[in-house]
Amino acid sequence: MPTDNDTAKPWGGRFTEATDQFVEAFTESVSFDRRLAPYDIEGSVAHVRMLARVGVLTDAECEAICTGLNDILMQIEAGEFAWKQELEDVHMNIEAALVQQVGEVGKKVHSGRSRNDQVATDLRLYLRAEVAVLRALLVQNMQALVALAEQEAGAIMPGYTHLQGAQPITFGHHILAWYEMLKRDEQRLNDCLARINVLPLGAAALAGTRVPIDRALSAELLGFPAIAANSLDAVSDRDFVVEFCAAAALVMLHLSRFSEELVLWLSPAFGFIDIDDAFCTGSSIMPQKKNPDVAELVRGKTGRVYGDLTTILTIMKGQPLAYNRDNQEDKECLFDAVDTLKLCLQAYLKLLPSIQVKREVMHEAAQQGYLTATDLADYLTLKGVAFRDAHAIVGKTVQYALRQGKGLEQLELPELQQFHDGIDVHVYDYLRLQDSVAARDHAGGTAPAKVRAAAAEARRYLDSIRSKGNR
Ligand code: ARG
Repeated sequence: MPTDNDTAKPWGGRFTEATDQFVEAFTESVSFDRRLAPYDIEGSVAHVRMLARVGVLTDAECEAICTGLNDILMQIEAGEFAWKQELEDVHMNIEAALVQQVGEVGKKVHSGRSRNDQVATDLRLYLRAEVAVLRALLVQNMQALVALAEQEAGAIMPGYTHLQGAQPITFGHHILAWYEMLKRDEQRLNDCLARINVLPLGAAALAGTRVPIDRALSAELLGFPAIAANSLDAVSDRDFVVEFCAAAALVMLHLSRFSEELVLWLSPAFGFIDIDDAFCTGSSIMPQKKNPDVAELVRGKTGRVYGDLTTILTIMKGQPLAYNRDNQEDKECLFDAVDTLKLCLQAYLKLLPSIQVKREVMHEAAQQGYLTATDLADYLTLKGVAFRDAHAIVGKTVQYALRQGKGLEQLELPELQQFHDGIDVHVYDYLRLQDSVAARDHAGGTAPAKVRAAAAEARRYLDSIRSKGNR
């Protein structure tokens, strides 16, 4: 029954009682799904253009609706739109406003469509746009890492396993390991796009529609390269949200690991880096403190995004086909994952250039702990000693050096020869840190020359993905 009340429920026809106030507040989603408004309007504009093309709407009706939708978009962007909880969600708020704005013709916008295919379309349009922003931020972070790696290609630091000094590496090499992680992340986000970029519109509530729609045209108008092949799947599928949240969780995992290392390196116990004062905070009680809060918060926020992934997985696991209202809960976790990841990538973009590397401290730390012991074992291996025997010989040598309070490279030749008589003066080429890293010049190695080559390769890769856009 037509009503003049602009807050009446669009689905109210078969109801005789008003919705309970609590239920209204419990079931509404407009408080959070209003952020989908620009995509909801984009989807509606495409839908009515398609309806006009197939003759369900006249061109005049289509133009009136599109003009009305555009006006509404401008009101929303100007913050002048009155969102109403009693109209439940973004879709019904906009539809009601459209009818107010353009009159009776506005009621035709929902022909051949349901909120079920509408919301799935909105969410895909939204996520596609956000993925583009996130990928650009990832690429900028990758560029910042490459710049840092180039600058520190020759800086020697201790490499760790079990957080125990293991072998000398270059700081540039370490930073390029971070780059590799973000490179996979960027590729993963790009891969997600293939499954995001599928048009659900046309599935209507679940069973399609008797309105003679042209889904290929809707897909073309909205820039979707594919059309959901099954109407039930189209309205119920949220795999793309799960996939995105999983990819976001992995980016956060990586940022969290970077953060952990920055926290360690800034700690006076390591003292490998300094971070500009502007990116640290002090303690309200301990005057000497300089805390790496930005890195710590990124590490902490990783938990939120894991939570978002767990949320969407759990929302989906018990649902029978097709659409269920559970799906309304897909949004806040997705929005939170997008927002948190964006914020943390922005934080890192500022944080990375604020890092100052204390080369002497790192070099000094690498000098401790017999980090070239494996080089000495390699030297003996190349002289024909079986590696297991070489390992034992070097073990004894280290024991001796420890007792003497010397580094391996500080032992005199005769002292070294006590442990193997084949050792000659060339052994020192295996014991100096500089030689140790320079010798690892194979593919994927830590040699300064290899770090520079890997950085150059990374720059070429970044240029190529920038020129390609979506792959
Ligand atoms: N607000 C709803 C959601 O986010 C829109 C779809 C509602 N569909 C329905 N049949 N009640 O999922």
